[in-house]
Amino acid sequence: MRIDVVTIFPAFFDVLEVSLLGRARDAGILDVRVHDLRDFTHDRHRTVDDTPYGGGAGMVMKPEPWGQALDAIAADATEPIRFVFPSPAGAVFTQAAARSWAASGEHLVFGCGRYEGIDERVFSYAATLGEVSLTSIGDYVLNGGEVAAMAMIEAVGRLIPGVVGNPESLIEESHEDGLLEYPSFTKPAAWRGYDVPDVLLSGHHGRVADWRREQQIERTRARRPDLLPD
Ligand code: ADE
Repeated sequence: MRIDVVTIFPAFFDVLEVSLLGRARDAGILDVRVHDLRDFTHDRHRTVDDTPYGGGAGMVMKPEPWGQALDAIAADATEPIRFVFPSPAGAVFTQAAARSWAASGEHLVFGCGRYEGIDERVFSYAATLGEVSLTSIGDYVLNGGEVAAMAMIEAVGRLIPGVVGNPESLIEESHEDGLLEYPSFTKPAAWRGYDVPDVLLSGHHGRVADWRREQQIERTRARRPDLLPD
């Protein structure tokens, strides 16, 4: 899968070198390329922002460098592109979106805004080159799209076949079946006065499965009732 990132802080993405995603890159399963938006400027100060029309606080990212960056990526693309612009004003990212993007065969391009945002016309222009998703990772405000893009790259990347060693671990997981994950335990069976539930030591697969399902429903009811049907 091909993923491009456009940012004024390429160093945020150095962590893609480590862990599972780093291995997937080395194995050629994920092809992630990070571009510095300032490389698409032409003035001495490599300016990427300006004051907002209509006034107001903060600066807005100028459309011209974005246009050039998106053109350069699109010119080099061999698959249909989905442009993802992380934004607290976007639709909330979910496991369903991660699954859909991972299965789509699309080339994902993350456009990371800073300051008060990106000139709105960039989204209209991007829509002439591919699909556009303005996506929030939750109802809180970050300083820019980089951390949100990293979260989405990890959520999508790990669903690409070959990235996670044991595909079964992808299935038995929070959100995959609409419920939170059941609690997990490992040895020792007794630790600092806390015991592992007896059912897990019973060796009875049916009872273990029933108990895990009950725990999933119980936890979801307690922590995330919004995930349960009415
Ligand atoms: N940029 C700033 N806050 C964000 C959020 N919550 N999600 C995605 N992008 C953001």
